Amino acid sequence: MRPKLYGYKEYRFLVIAHRGASYYRPENTFSSFEQAVRMGADMIELDVLFTKDNIPVVIHDENLSRLAGTNENISNLTIAKLDRAEVGSWFDTKFKGEKIPTLSEVLNWAKEKITLNIEVKSEAVSDNPEGGVEQKVIDLVRKFKMESHVLLSSFDARALSRFKLLAPEIPSGYLYSRETSKGKTIPQVVDEFNVDLYHTTSRSLTKRRHTQLQEIECPVLVYTVNSRREMKKLIKKGIHGIFSDRPDRLKEVADKEIPDRLH
Ligand code: G3P
Ligand code: MG
Repeated sequence: MRPKLYGYKEYRFLVIAHRGASYYRPENTFSSFEQAVRMGADMIELDVLFTKDNIPVVIHDENLSRLAGTNENISNLTIAKLDRAEVGSWFDTKFKGEKIPTLSEVLNWAKEKITLNIEVKSEAVSDNPEGGVEQKVIDLVRKFKMESHVLLSSFDARALSRFKLLAPEIPSGYLYSRETSKGKTIPQVVDEFNVDLYHTTSRSLTKRRHTQLQEIECPVLVYTVNSRREMKKLIKKGIHGIFSDRPDRLKEVADKEIPDRLH
């Protein structure tokens, strides 16, 4: 298979596997990521939190109850302890034994294969002006020479502000939230955080916001869309990509609507 090692700019439209192919495999696991590659996704979105001993790990929830059935927090566990957590059975007993990957493992795997959207979760971010977690993520991206093949994003204003300061060469995406956008126009938000893209839900992408984004030529990515109808509607609006738990379905729709998705 042709490796999908492009940056986001090479695509007219991006098929993004949300937490991997998470409709088919347990989210944010290697099973899910491998399935996304098999299904032909252009990019994989994943979530990052930090362990007690400061290791970035790929998981969405700070508390392990939903995914591993234990009432423990990621930030209270060392990587050695977390390594014993099992995040496959909740989805299907077929996936028993699935581990929480470290960001380092995923970057090492992805460098030959696919572009990543690394979403730094707010729970991991602190007021530390040095930007501890952001710097750690960036160091890893650089270590694996993935600067042109990742997209950093966060809902957190502190993380967003630090991404471009620490790594101007890595593209970043603003994840829309009411808090960080309050009282600001789209150009002000994009300018304040110095982001390259704008990520939002379909519902928050009002006509007015979309027009403002088009005026400043800021690409828009929409999450999380699993219905064919909604996919088609958004593609027709001219957005730049969709996050879906069903990348196979999204690819099928996108290939039909935009036959040549690579510029
Ligand atoms: O990055 C898009 C989307 O993943 C944001 O929401 O909660 O699924 O991480 P969430
Ligand atoms: Mg996410």
